[in-house]
Amino acid sequence: MRDLEGKTAFITGGASGIGLGIAKTLAGAGMRVVIADLRQDHLDAAVAWFESVQKARDVLAIRLDVTDRPGFKAAADAAEAQFGPIHVLVNNAGVGIEGPLLEATYDDWDWGLGVNIGGVVNGIRTLLPRMVAHGQGGHVVNTASMAAVTRARQNFGIYAATKAAILALSESLQAELAETGIGVSVLCPGPYKTNIREAKLNRPEKFAGETGFGASLEKLSKREDASNWTDPLDAGERVLNAIREDQLYILTHGEFKPFAEAHYKGILDAFPAEPTMDSMEETMRVFGIK
Ligand SMILES: NC(=O)c1ccc[n+]([C@@H]2O[C@H](COP(=O)([O-])OP(=O)(O)OC[C@H]3O[C@@H](n4cnc5c(N)ncnc54)[C@H](O)[C@@H]3O)[C@@H](O)[C@H]2O)c1
Repeated sequence: MRDLEGKTAFITGGASGIGLGIAKTLAGAGMRVVIADLRQDHLDAAVAWFESVQKARDVLAIRLDVTDRPGFKAAADAAEAQFGPIHVLVNNAGVGIEGPLLEATYDDWDWGLGVNIGGVVNGIRTLLPRMVAHGQGGHVVNTASMAAVTRARQNFGIYAATKAAILALSESLQAELAETGIGVSVLCPGPYKTNIREAKLNRPEKFAGETGFGASLEKLSKREDASNWTDPLDAGERVLNAIREDQLYILTHGEFKPFAEAHYKGILDAFPAEPTMDSMEETMRVFGIK
């Protein structure tokens, strides 16, 4: 999608960190941006920034919990009422949920899966049919993580599972939308300086019952960013470029390539050396493998 001027982007988790970096960059490229976010303090700070650079009239801030389906529809309606059709959907809202799987309660699972996968599902279900229907083309960006392409670490079971799901979902969506004029990208960020440590503050009431992750999330809340982690505007620039160039994969930090290589090598090495079937042809036809 090359012509972004005057078009509209809807960005979940758009009021902080990587989402805000994307919002600033897309606004800088002449787009109008809707920042939909759970946290009012993040929305207020983001709006104040856009006011400070005289861009506030191109920005609509909406309070939204991406797990709230009627709320998502209302946010989409409000966005279209203000700016017209949505062309770019950025499913970025996510929580850095950490803790041992053995301790994970159903509330922990439902929160992690609900936001990191369910939020993307709700974005797609709510906005994608509208994007296809207006026929002007567009782009969907889903935020996964470097955790989707490297070997899952201890304590990252829920997080890594959600991000691997977003990678797979995005690949499938790209194939499905190939003829619609809507491109798909999956953003796999390495470390950025964001507020992801605040996960425990971003827990919607409906998932706030029982947790086995109290100690892990407390520890995360005190984690300091390393000095060489990256400014989220860098992610914004990479996303802008991927939208323009219609690139599926957005990998951000080359330093992680050896870890991804080791991960995929481990998987590839586990394949049996000899084929099990006499031919792949029929199987490829049945499963649509290209
Ligand atoms: N920070 C990193 O280095 C990093 C690395 C890999 C992937 N990511 C991913 O990037 C995305 C953005 O994270 P970030 O690091 O910018 O963190 P962040 O906390 O700075 O921003 C995330 C935003 O999402 C919002 N949010 C959380 N739950 C929500 C919900 N239920 N509904 C709507 N909004 C909600 C938060 O209020 C926050 O404003 C996430 O999907 C995260 O998993 C981040």
